[in-house]
Amino acid sequence: MFPKEFLWGGALSAPQAEGAYDVDGKTLTIPDCHVYNDKNDRKVTKQVQLNRGAIEEAKVSTERKFPKRWGIDFYHTYKDDLKLFKEMGFKVFRYSISWARILPQGDYNVNEKGLEFYDQLIDEIISNDMIPLITISHFDFPIVLVDKYSGWYSRELIDLYVHYCKILFDRYKDKVKYWITFNEINMSIKAGQKTLGILNEGQENYEQMLFQGLHHQFVAAAKVTEYAHSLNADLQIGSMVAYFTTYAHTCNPDDAFAMLQEDQMKNQFYLDVLNKGEYPYYSWTYMKNRGIELVLEKDDLSIIAAHPADFVGMSYYNSMISASDTAGLELTNANVHSVFKNPYLPANDWGWQIDPVGLRYTLNHVYSRYKKPIFILENSSGFFDKLEDDGTIHDPYRIQFLNDHIKQMGLAILDGVDVIGYTMWGPIDMVSSSTSEMSKRYGFIYVDQDDLGNGSKKRIRKDSFFWYQTVITTNGENII
Ligand code: BG6
Repeated sequence: MFPKEFLWGGALSAPQAEGAYDVDGKTLTIPDCHVYNDKNDRKVTKQVQLNRGAIEEAKVSTERKFPKRWGIDFYHTYKDDLKLFKEMGFKVFRYSISWARILPQGDYNVNEKGLEFYDQLIDEIISNDMIPLITISHFDFPIVLVDKYSGWYSRELIDLYVHYCKILFDRYKDKVKYWITFNEINMSIKAGQKTLGILNEGQENYEQMLFQGLHHQFVAAAKVTEYAHSLNADLQIGSMVAYFTTYAHTCNPDDAFAMLQEDQMKNQFYLDVLNKGEYPYYSWTYMKNRGIELVLEKDDLSIIAAHPADFVGMSYYNSMISASDTAGLELTNANVHSVFKNPYLPANDWGWQIDPVGLRYTLNHVYSRYKKPIFILENSSGFFDKLEDDGTIHDPYRIQFLNDHIKQMGLAILDGVDVIGYTMWGPIDMVSSSTSEMSKRYGFIYVDQDDLGNGSKKRIRKDSFFWYQTVITTNGENII
């Protein structure tokens, strides 16, 4: 099912893995201020909402309640961790760079120490025979930019981001071919703080602020794509959404229309702007109906039109249903959203519904719309794992989940979809983005560490480690 050159691998992010939050000049980021979320909240989608007070408190707090500050200490363990990825045969490794490590004051003063870390990391990825795929901004917004500019709401962020990207492209243009401008840019409206650094403090025009910040990101993405291509036309600059696949609750045409509109504003809007280079008609209508008026500068729309992304990047975790009349429908979680339950699907312990066929559906749906290569940048599910007394971890549920999704990805390739790679999310356990806990594990590699960071941090291969190794060495022939 898989082409010979298919890029198998895995993906991590700096704020969930790296730790070393105040080492070598790095300053605080939004995730560094996320407090560990109590287990009782698991079944409820609860966005971590930081306000100014919580940030000021976090700045001076010495309590060990911010797990992302320490992550899994990848800053110090990356050499050994990369060896384990190599042992599984990864052809590509996706990782994010921390803006606050490169530009700790958010201005134009570069922190050489920060760059040196990524110099070494990228060299190490390459020397382990993996292709580096870099996410430039992965839910990792520097607090200094919240303080000085109110996040992406300020237009000045465009120049600051372009400056940051130029540093990276100039330095790594000969080593890194694949780049993602913004992780899951479609989280912006639902989780504006995570992606845009815009705090929700009850502002009346908060939604307007989010759309304005998002517009600045669209312009910035186009500008840096232009710059990257001017350096080297072969650089591949990708867009990325978390695809929130949705089905009509019934065959009632009203439900089908509700589904269409939900797909438009949760997914397609972002991919249309980034890949087709234009704001789609339905997005102007949506904004108008909500009283949102974007402030545009003269060349914004032409810049967006001139520099679309080279490929479609997407994460796929779960699906949802849309209905015109939602009375009586039960809610469950889908990443940042609360969605209606699909009675045909099981869910994990966090309520994220498991839908492998949805991946084939989504790949066909997206490819027919954009006709660009698709890179699956994240896919997996959080599970509880048990470390047995003999030091082993048996995780058939993870193997089942991934087998079923990879199979549907293979079928989509047979359908004719151009899928170029698959970076499974979280090949080594790390801190959960939404709940800041360790217990929600994704890895093929177990990290002996609890929710508050206690433990030996020893790395242990789970059963799925050997299974994924076989997936890669046989190019998917063990998928059943
Ligand atoms: C994606 C993010 O939305 O979901 C990742 O890009 C995140 O950063 C992943 O880890 C899974 O979410 P969680 O909350 O289970 O870590």
